[in-house]
This record gives sequence, structure tokens and C-alpha cells, in this order.
Amino acid sequence: FSDFLTDTFNRQHDYLRISVTERCNLRCLYCMPEEGVPLSPTRELLTTPEIVLLSSLFVAQGVTKIRLTGGEPTVRRDIVPLMQQIGALRSHGLRELCLTTNGLSLHRKLDAMVDAGLTAVNLSLDTLDPWQFQLMTRRAGFPAVRKSIDRILEMNRAGAGIKLKINCVVMRGLNDREILPFVEMTRDEDLEVRFIEYMPFDGNKWSKGKMFSYQEMLDVIRAKYPDVHPEQGHKNDTSKTYKVPGFTGRVGFITSMTHNFCGTCNRLRITGDGNLKVCLFGNTEVSLRDIIRKVNQGEPIDEAAFEALNQRANYIAPLDGPGPLLAPNSEELLEVINIAV
Ligand code: GTP
Ligand code: 5AD
Ligand code: SF4
Repeated sequence: FSDFLTDTFNRQHDYLRISVTERCNLRCLYCMPEEGVPLSPTRELLTTPEIVLLSSLFVAQGVTKIRLTGGEPTVRRDIVPLMQQIGALRSHGLRELCLTTNGLSLHRKLDAMVDAGLTAVNLSLDTLDPWQFQLMTRRAGFPAVRKSIDRILEMNRAGAGIKLKINCVVMRGLNDREILPFVEMTRDEDLEVRFIEYMPFDGNKWSKGKMFSYQEMLDVIRAKYPDVHPEQGHKNDTSKTYKVPGFTGRVGFITSMTHNFCGTCNRLRITGDGNLKVCLFGNTEVSLRDIIRKVNQGEPIDEAAFEALNQRANYIAPLDGPGPLLAPNSEELLEVINIAV
């Protein structure tokens, strides 16, 4: 493992998230305003050869897992050829190629993506009711998302082995009544439903009252399934995993607001316009795009990225140290976000 991806707290960053588009075909209440988000001019966005180049550089340095995100990654026109090229890095050490998607148009591209090497899908779905879906995403589309989920399960029954997680952001008064129906999805299917605490982002009208906490979610689930119990998760998971005895799948919680998980974070992020971000809540960014565009001038990419990783130490401390300096945790999280935006 190269030193380049190891930070000053000895965390090895072997997981790279790449945003392949800023655009999205939904308008979830907790994420975007109705008019969408301001988009960068095309010339500032990474091209497909640039994304492939960066992916191969990071895989050469020890990254074993790449997740494509957005916006909504499936709206990128050439997402399948892009995945084919990243998927080819399997012979160079890439072990997992993952997608975070809203599932709206996934069913059309899924088979080709799996052929390209897709190994895992995190699919955002906050409600099982088509009307509520329209309310929360400001768009129709529940049947299309359902179709994507069904296609994944069908492919898995035929042996495809796609790891499926459903991400469900719980908002008080909107979909908090649906926790148990979501848990029910794990009875017969080998999937993980992850309940996410609603987080504040710039302009998403977050309020503490709308946040439904991990503890409250667990109380709801325990009232119906008293034997629900924690399971051993993976070392770098952002979620806490539980299981209802006898159920096939698992239930997870992403507790960004009430319990931070910075100490074990192993993620690097590349934004749509090619900035390397080492923390979701940090403002340290380095433009990999500018570096690779200047490649003819011989500027070494590794040093700049290494520099950014070192700076990470300025705002996150290891859990066995004096505690996080700026923990993404309740009130402090708000402050960090205010600094970052
Ligand atoms: P896997 O662990 O591979 O399943 O991926 P993931 O859970 O990191 O990815 P996903 O795109 O499904 O993100 C799920 C949720 O985790 C989202 O709400 C993200 O905003 C949140 N998340 C991802 N990375 C971080 C992080 O470093 N810090 C915090 N606080 N939240 C994160
Ligand atoms: N709070 C919590 N989760 C959010 N997501 C998007 N915005 C928020 C927010 N404000 C989730 C999406 C998706 C994942 C990548 O992030 O639902 O599943
Ligand atoms: Fe945001 Fe994802 Fe919803 Fe699109 S689908 S609006 S990116 S949360």
C-alpha cells in the first residue's frame, strides 16, 4: 500500500468516490430546490478520459473500491462506456465498482453495467408509496425505481451477486411511518435497508425537528421486533448494521448527526469538476483536473494529493486521540458546514 494514500492518522484511503455529473432527474426535498442546483460549465467538468485516467492513477496507488455518484450518475450519457473503462481496472487491483443511484433509469442500463463490472448498488428510496414518492422527490417515478430494484433481485437470483443497499432518509412527519414497511423488505430479500439521519446542507431547509434520530428509529423497530440485534460491520462502514432474527437481509443506520464515524473514514472524493476532497465537511480541495490538464508541464500529481491528505489532519483527529477536533456531530456539524460552504 503506498504512503500516498495513508494519512497522518494511518488511515488508508482505499475507497474513492467520483461524482460523474452534477445533474439529477429528481428533486428530493432534502437535497435540491425545485429549480435544481447551479451547474458548472462543461469545460470545467471532468471528461470521460480524465475520469478514467484519475481512476487508474488511484488504483495504481492502492484504491480497491470506486463508487460513482452524482447528482444522479445514470444521467451521464456515456455512463456505460465509462464504467466499462473503469471496470477494466479490475486486472490492476480494483475489487469493487459501485454505484449510488436513485434508480429512476437504472433498469435500462443495469445489465450493461453489470457486464462492465458493477458489483454493488446503493439505491436511494425514501418511501414505498407512489404518492409520497412524488411529494418527496417532486417527480413521478416510483414504478421505475421499483423496476430497477426488481431487476437487481432477479439478476441476483440468477447468480449476479450484486450487493444491494436501499438508502432511506427519514424525515419526521413525512416518511417516519414507513420504517417498519422498509424493515419488512429485508424479510425475504438479501438486501440491506439503511435509514439515514436527515443532514443539513446549504439551502435544504434542515431543522432539528424534522430530523428523526437513530435512537428513535431503533425504538420504532424494537417495539415490533424486540430481538433485532447489532451485527459485526466492516471496519470502514459509515453505517451500523442490525438484523431481525430469521430475516434474510439486514437493516443499517447512517447516524451522521448523532454519532460521527470520522475516525474510521477511508474515503476520498472527486467532485464533478475534478477537485479532490478529503472530507465531506472539509473545505480542503485540490484541483486534480488542473493538474492533469497541465500534465505536459510535468507537475507530479501525487504530491498535490498527498498535500491535501495531510491537511485533513487539521480538522479531524483520530477517535483514540483527544477526540475529533471538529466532529460532524449535531451542533458542531452545523458549524463545520457553515465553515465549509
Ligand atoms: P458503502 O459504505 O460502500 O455502502 O457506501 P456509502 O454508504 O459511503 O455511500 P452512499 O453513497 O450510499 O452514501 C450513503 C450516505 O452516507 C449518504 O447520506 C452520504 O451523505 C453519507 N456519507 C458518505 N460518506 C460520508 C462521510 O464521510 N461522512 C458523512 N458524515 N456522511 C457520509
Ligand atoms: N441528509 C441525509 N441524506 C441525504 N442524502 C442526500 N441528501 C441528504 C440529506 N440532506 C442521501 C441520498 C442518497 C445518499 C447518497 O445521500 O438519499 O441516498
Ligand atoms: Fe439529490 Fe439524489 Fe434526490 Fe437527486 S436523487 S435530488 S441527487 S438526493
